[in-house]
Amino acid sequence: MNRFQGKVALVTGGGGGIGSAIAARLASEGAHVVVTDVNAAGAEAVAAAIRAGGHRASSIAADIAKAAECHALVSQALAAQGAVDVLVNNAGINRRGNIMAISEDDWDQTFAVNIDAMFHLCRAVIPQMMDRGGGAIVNTASQWGLHPAPGHIAYNVSKAAVASFTQNLARDYAPHGIRVNAVCPGEIHTPMLEAGVKRSGRTIADLDRLVPFGRIGKPEEVAALVAFLASDEAPFMCGSLVEITGAQAVA
Ligand SMILES: NC(=O)c1ccc[n+]([C@@H]2O[C@H](COP(=O)([O-])OP(=O)(O)OC[C@H]3O[C@@H](n4cnc5c(N)ncnc54)[C@H](O)[C@@H]3O)[C@@H](O)[C@H]2O)c1
Repeated sequence: MNRFQGKVALVTGGGGGIGSAIAARLASEGAHVVVTDVNAAGAEAVAAAIRAGGHRASSIAADIAKAAECHALVSQALAAQGAVDVLVNNAGINRRGNIMAISEDDWDQTFAVNIDAMFHLCRAVIPQMMDRGGGAIVNTASQWGLHPAPGHIAYNVSKAAVASFTQNLARDYAPHGIRVNAVCPGEIHTPMLEAGVKRSGRTIADLDRLVPFGRIGKPEEVAALVAFLASDEAPFMCGSLVEITGAQAVA
């Protein structure tokens, strides 16, 4: 498939688990992918691997918890590539704790990365999408934003905000040809999940057993869904929150 030939895609958190799979998938289908991450070396390693595979990618380091870096990131991407046709707001952090356990810093940082960055990045890319007659935005929410798991209040509330943000943006910008959707993954095998497993003393096999499908998900499976939502194969999908969980219910 070559669904992104001639398109430019900006992927946040592209140096991480799901983000690197999304970057690879979009590039394999013809996009020039701008891989961005606070981890400069990680973002460049992903872009370099894409180029080594014969596809097109570049990297820009940015801490998207800072509004100024969000705007600088989009300006740099536009200056280098001329457009951003697809924005994938994938970066996220998971700081655990109930309301009494979580620190104020962790609460603030969670919202800065998981939702405020989407506000700034969308404001930066939408005007040129409107000028070009449309575009696609895919946000990463979470199953936990729809059905909260216990002990993660900041993460869950921030992801619920991502879901509402997605629906609001979709309603406001569908008339301009900009489609906005969100993916809501369940347990996906990434560095974020590995860190959570270590903290809890559980194993991957324990998590596999919680999923009716028999195993947790792979980053590439989320990437395939993101690519579909961002592509012209999904022209009437706008404002959707798509769960990808292997039929797991949050317990
Ligand atoms: N792994 C799961 O089970 C799971 C489930 C549901 C939702 N998600 C969501 O999927 C997305 C990707 O998660 P993942 O599991 O690949 O996590 P990950 O930790 O493996 O990767 C996240 C990436 O985001 C980057 N990042 C973090 N803070 C940043 C900042 N301030 N500026 C720029 N980049 C920053 C990290 O450096 C990292 O490369 C997140 O939004 C996460 O909440 C993950």
